[in-house]
Amino acid sequence: MKSRLLLAAAIVCIISAAGNISAQSLAKAYEKDFLIGTALNNNQILEKDPVQAALIAKEFNCYTAENVMKSQVIHPEEDKYNFEMADALYALAKKNNAKVHGHTLIWHSQLSRFFRDKKTPEELAAAMESHINTVAGRYAGKTVSWDVVNEAVEDDGSLRKSTFLNVMGEDYLALAFKLAAKADPNAELYYNDYSMTGKPKREGVIRMVKKIQESGAKIDGIGMQGHWHLETPTIEDIETSILAYAALGVKVAITELDIDVLPNPRNVQGADISQRAENTTELNPYVNGLPADVEAKLAKRYQDIFALFLKHKDKISRVTFWGVNDGDSWKNNFPARGRSNYPLIFDRENKPKEAYKSILALKKKK
Ligand code: G3I
Repeated sequence: MKSRLLLAAAIVCIISAAGNISAQSLAKAYEKDFLIGTALNNNQILEKDPVQAALIAKEFNCYTAENVMKSQVIHPEEDKYNFEMADALYALAKKNNAKVHGHTLIWHSQLSRFFRDKKTPEELAAAMESHINTVAGRYAGKTVSWDVVNEAVEDDGSLRKSTFLNVMGEDYLALAFKLAAKADPNAELYYNDYSMTGKPKREGVIRMVKKIQESGAKIDGIGMQGHWHLETPTIEDIETSILAYAALGVKVAITELDIDVLPNPRNVQGADISQRAENTTELNPYVNGLPADVEAKLAKRYQDIFALFLKHKDKISRVTFWGVNDGDSWKNNFPARGRSNYPLIFDRENKPKEAYKSILALKKKK
């Protein structure tokens, strides 16, 4: 009898421990607040590293293709599409019971040549229609939301002079959202951009979104990319922007969150990848690992940011990290190439960092 009681007690401990471990996941902890997403690269989509594949399946419930759904990759020539990797992403999401956020339909960067060769509004509109119908149409009903237009506003609030604006004028913006609504009627449609906490840009985005709304096009949300730093932008700046965008009657998503811990050459903000800097020892101080004091600062920064997100969880639909572990991050090569950065919440060995624990601790306090 005694051995049976001991065995039962052991099983209870194992189950409860397992329960605690499964409760450890970010997606589970925040499931009543907002989606917890990550950007996936080719190797992650193909589950090349089984340890990281298990982490992705456990910790995140929304996937964004870091690159494979950009026009230059998925639609490199007018009559040629590459769906293999995007199809694999959707298959992985289905397997893991995760959602997919589509990134991105209309973007001036990584733009296929044939788009840039269109010289009349009619030709470019037709190319946009074909691209959006084919890509958004293929994944219609399986995509929780789309970045319909990405990075169309400059930091000073003016509209970016992209191929789209130069050939079609502002009309391309409403057209993109109308085409996306037709191709995937049930998906939420977002405008996505970086440096979204600066006043001039925020006002420019608000002007643009109001015009899209006035055109009768469906726009459901605004994505703030969240390529931030240890000190900037301030929590107040972020909150001001969340409130200002939500006041338009749209959802807010934090779409590409990472916190740069390295010295910032020329105070480069956001993600304008044309801004480059040379790699120097001064700009790359942590080649042998992140000092404990910086690790602690990063954990506090992430906790402060997530406390703000929880405060406004009624406005926030999703928080997506721009990468899984520090080694995967684009910030190792921007604005200076070949640096050792530590912007995410899992380390290069896929171990949870203090930042992961600090974000999770917020939910335990509830
Ligand atoms: O796949 C090719 C490979 O075949 C080739 O050998 C290699 C050599 O250059 O390039 C590889 O493509 C690179 C791709 O990442 C995949 O690694 C591109 O050159 C490189 O430009 C691309 O960088 C991506 C960048 O967007 C530009 O598309 C970053 O990974 C990605 O993190 C970054 O993400 C953007 C968001 O989409 C929009 N918001 C800003 C954010 C950061 O720039």
